[in-house]
Formats: sequence, C-alpha cells, structure tokens
Amino acid sequence: MAGQNSPLIFLSGISKNFPGVQALKRVDLHLKKGEVLGLVGENGAGKSTLMKILAGVHQKNEGQIFFRGNEIQFKNPHEAIKAGVSTVYQDLNLVEELSICENIFLGRFIKSRLGLIDQKGMEKIAREILGKLGLDIDSCIPVFRLGVAQKQMVEIAKALAIEAEVLILDEPSATLSERELDNLFQVIRELKKEGMGIIYISHQLEEIFQITDRVQVLRDGEAVGEKETAETSREELITLIIGRELKDFYPEEQPHRKGQEILCVEELQGEGREASFELREGEILGFVGLVGSGRTELMRVLFGADRKKKGKVFLRGEEVRVDSPQKAVKLGFGYLPEERKTQALLLERSVKENMSLASLPNYSLPLGIIKRKKEEEDTLGFLRRLQIKIPGLWTETKNLSGGNQQKVILARWLLSDARVIIFDEPTRGIDVGTKSEIYRLLQEMKENNIGVILVSSDLEEVVHVCDRVIVMDRGELVKVLEGKDKRPEMIMHYATGGE
Ligand SMILES: Nc1ncnc2c1ncn2[C@@H]1O[C@H](COP(=O)(O)OP(=O)(O)OP(=O)(O)O)[C@@H](O)[C@H]1O
Ligand SMILES: [Mg+2]
Repeated sequence: MAGQNSPLIFLSGISKNFPGVQALKRVDLHLKKGEVLGLVGENGAGKSTLMKILAGVHQKNEGQIFFRGNEIQFKNPHEAIKAGVSTVYQDLNLVEELSICENIFLGRFIKSRLGLIDQKGMEKIAREILGKLGLDIDSCIPVFRLGVAQKQMVEIAKALAIEAEVLILDEPSATLSERELDNLFQVIRELKKEGMGIIYISHQLEEIFQITDRVQVLRDGEAVGEKETAETSREELITLIIGRELKDFYPEEQPHRKGQEILCVEELQGEGREASFELREGEILGFVGLVGSGRTELMRVLFGADRKKKGKVFLRGEEVRVDSPQKAVKLGFGYLPEERKTQALLLERSVKENMSLASLPNYSLPLGIIKRKKEEEDTLGFLRRLQIKIPGLWTETKNLSGGNQQKVILARWLLSDARVIIFDEPTRGIDVGTKSEIYRLLQEMKENNIGVILVSSDLEEVVHVCDRVIVMDRGELVKVLEGKDKRPEMIMHYATGGE
C-alpha cells in the first residue's frame, strides 16, 4: 500500500468486541488527502468506536491500520496525536476549572527557551485559533463559565492547535448554532485546501451534503455503503442508514386542540429578562431563538435548577413554588436538559435505573416492595420503541453510544407521570429513524393531555411538531407564532431582531 498514491488513512477489516457487543465487524474505510469524508449511521452503529480505534483510545481485535501506506498501531491517544491524528470527541473532555487557553494546550504546554511555560505565547496562538473559529472571547476565562456551544468550540480549537494531517470530528455540530457551524465549515474548507484529511460524523444529513466529498455508512457495526456525496440523495442515504425506506418522517399534523390551561408563568425572572406565557393540556409549545437568546436559562429557572429572582408559576390555576428540581418532579414537571451528560445521567448506574429514576413511586407498593416485573416490562417497551440496542437492562449507561445515552433520559420522562415536560433539544445527536419515532411519541403525549415545551434549533422540526412557537431574542419573548404564521422565515425574522 505504501507510495505516492496510497490513501492518507486506510482501515482494513477492523473488528472490535466489547463484553456482550460486537461493535465493529470487519470494517474497511479510507481517507484521502484534502478530502472530507462523512461517516454516518444509526446510534450505536459503531462510528465513535471506529474513530477511537484510529485515535488510539481503543485497541482493535482484528484488522490493520495504514497511515500513508505504512501499517501502524497507536497504543494510546498520545501516539496518535504525535503522528498527526487530531480528534474532537463526541462528549466534551474539558477541564472545567482551567482556562480556555490551558485547556487548548493541556498536556503540551509551550515552553520558552529557559524552560518556563510561555503563557503569552500560548495565549497568542489560542487567540488566533479562536478568532479563526469566530469566537470572540478572552482565552483566560475558566471553561465552567462557558455555555455548551462555546465549550464545543473550545474542543475544536484544542484539536486545531495540534498540527495534524488527519482531523476527526465526532458530531461537532450537535451543540452548535448555525453561525458557529458556518465558521467551522469555513475552517474545514481551509484545512482541506492545505491537504488535511477530515472525517466528519453527524446525524444532520444537510451538513453531510454541505461539507463532505464522500460518505461512508455504518449499520450495526458493518460498512454497508460508500457514496460520492454529489452522486447520492438524502433518501438513498437514509435507506442505507436504517436499512429500509423511511416514509413520513414527520407524523401528520393534528389540529391544535385548545385544552385547559395547565401551566401559567407570570413575569418569571432568573438572571435574564422576565418571561410570561401559558401552556395548555395536549399542546406542544416551541421555544426558538439564536444561541444565547435565553431559552435554556428560562427553562432552568422554571424547573428550579437555577434561582429565580421573581415571578409566579401556576399549575392548573394553583400557585406553586418550584425551588428545586426535586420539588419540580414532585409537582409533575419533567426536564430533559441540554447538557445531559453532566446534568442528567448517572453514568455508573444501569440503563434501567436511569430510566425508572423519575417513576419509582409507580413501581412501589407499601412496605417498600417494588413491582419489578412491571418496571422491567415498561423499560423494555421503551428500549424497543427508541431502538436503544444494549446487551441488557443492567448495562452501565457509560458504555452506551452518545445518542443511546440521550434516549435513556428521554425514556425516563416518557415513563414518568410528568404532566408538563420540558425538552431542551431532544433530537440532537439522535439518528434519523429514531427522530421520526420521537415525533410520534410527542404526538402521543399530546393525546394524553400532557403539556410539552420543546426548545429546539431545528426550525423544520419546530414548525412541524409545535402548535405554537414562542420566539426569543436576547432574553426576551418577542413573538408568539401559530397557524399560517408559524413558518421558518417568520421565526428567523423575529429571532434576529425583526419588528
Ligand atoms: N466502552 C464500551 N464498553 C462497552 N460497549 C461499548 C463501549 N463503547 C461503545 N460500546 C458499544 O459499541 C456500540 C457502538 O457504539 P458507538 O459509540 O461506536 O456508536 P455510534 O455510532 O458512535 O453512535 P452515536 O450516533 O449514538 O454516537 C454500541 O452498542 C455501544 O453500546
Ligand atoms: Mg458516537
């Protein structure tokens, strides 16, 4: 394979087993210089595992890895980085207490000639990279002060700070806004021109069509198809990804039933501006706005996760004091936060425990007896519906793929008795087949008279799924759209300061 024409990377017949799971089965993949290769597939298909093998995090059980035609074997991530393989992992790996700059250079601080750490030099490089990414932020501030999107940009900056020949981006866009994504794509195009080979993983097929040259599809750990991006279609990719055709991605829109008011929020204020709105039974109320428009902040105050300054919350006409998430759950609220890994999952606990966490009273009889059979039946039911493929209910949650971890928290609230559920970006990082199933589940919640708040950046999704849409701009609720006004253009108009 060695020589001028050999690909930058060639993975040949890669297999990987985890206890109870064969994550990869003899997968072949190649990457050329100056090429962006898209890697797509359902949650749990093996995308991250394959990339972790290339990046030296996991060791393969079978197969060979060639780098510029020479067989190599990275024993750890350091060796991969040294050889020029840089990776942005799906889950954030930043050290919260350290500054942006320290995170970017973690483990490889630049030293001056006297052997001292060259703080100024590192800050200068950090500033340059952040600037390239369009991030106007002081590199000395600690990472815990950043929002998820900014943290993701720091992860990307960290990967760019390494002079690499291969860049792996594992769902970099899952937390980014459109503007940040544009900046990232601009950077990718430049790196491509410089001859870098880039592997780009995403569940957003629009992105795959926008930025990649070629696409490789994985299904159940196998490479099932490889296409030139220009020569394939969304439909063809979806069929390859899920192994069948996907009809009716969105369920049929149902008429907006005006049920009883279930939630009323009056002048609620946390750190941002005050907000007032109401939610009815069987209604899906969308919250849209650019990143930083204050949607997540508002939901956190409503759920009692952040302190409220003032304002009132009424549940079915009765005033309630939601001063902690525990209290919120008792009152019948459910909340899928934006940053699930740190805010929602017990990673060391089993899938079953994570799923039934919010519905334990339903399975408890007096004297502390638990209705185990019922609990298992219900959890298994949602595992199937959400296509969470795992060896068993007792699998530790940390061993699940990123998207499947997300589905577990989603199932937690679907299993619970919550009457008002707040979903913050529920379909991010979720594969296309399951996304469609989630829309159907939302419809069912409507039929069961649950009030749903849907925070989402996917305007198509918002328009198809929500009955009403509230547009937020710089912390303020600027417009409510419904009926024929509920269109992506209208939403963008108001979200960007239009009158
Ligand atoms: N450390 C681990 N221990 C046990 N099983 C694992 C581990 N890492 C991954 N797996 C399993 O390997 C399979 C592939 O997971 P992987 O994370 O590669 O999927 P993915 O394609 O990246 O999915 P997603 O789109 O959800 O990120 C899954 O069944 C997952 O549960
Ligand atoms: Mg993954």
